Amino acid sequence: MDPLLSKTLDLNYLSLCAIDIITHMLEPFITGFYKAEIQRGIAKFFIKKTIDTIRALKKEPNNTDLRGNMHILSGLALSGIATRGTGGFHELHWLEHIVSGFFDNVSHPAGLSILLIPWLKYRWEKNKENITDLFSFILQKENVKKEEIFEYLDKFYKEINLERSFRKYGINEKDIDNFVKEYAFLTAKFPKFFPEKIDEKNLIKIFEQTLL
Ligand SMILES: [Fe+2]
Repeated sequence: MDPLLSKTLDLNYLSLCAIDIITHMLEPFITGFYKAEIQRGIAKFFIKKTIDTIRALKKEPNNTDLRGNMHILSGLALSGIATRGTGGFHELHWLEHIVSGFFDNVSHPAGLSILLIPWLKYRWEKNKENITDLFSFILQKENVKKEEIFEYLDKFYKEINLERSFRKYGINEKDIDNFVKEYAFLTAKFPKFFPEKIDEKNLIKIFEQTLL
């Protein structure tokens, strides 16, 4: 975990990497249904720490301790320690892979960054307890409200320059049809990766919200 390996990594790209780290843990947390008290507690701590670290790096981009922390969080996010046994899955990641599959100018974390808020809005109806639990911890406030969560995310996105739209990548409404067809293909071919399926109406809605 040598922090010097990311010494020259541009801060905007590092912000996107933070979103990849966060979503690797956030997706199973949100979609999970087992109690998994230990893993969920670890996930909350790691996610908040990733947010705190990228914020601090914005002020001190050359701080090697903070860059080292990002490396450690990145490894831990993928280790399974915060995600195994929750029953959750990586639904958002699959949506992103579809977009990057059609548009190789969309990097993986940029796609995740753009899709995260629309996907969370879709998941609110199904998993509001999990979303509230996570953001109450992040905001350090009991029973945080839906509006507060999305206001917080709006501010966080602006603060670390995260992207919200696929428009600049040359993606528009006519591409949604291909994304929906690919999703249908993937869910049929690899059902074990999709314990739940997003219905077509909601899938279109998610992609529409990425075209601001
Ligand atoms: Fe990822």
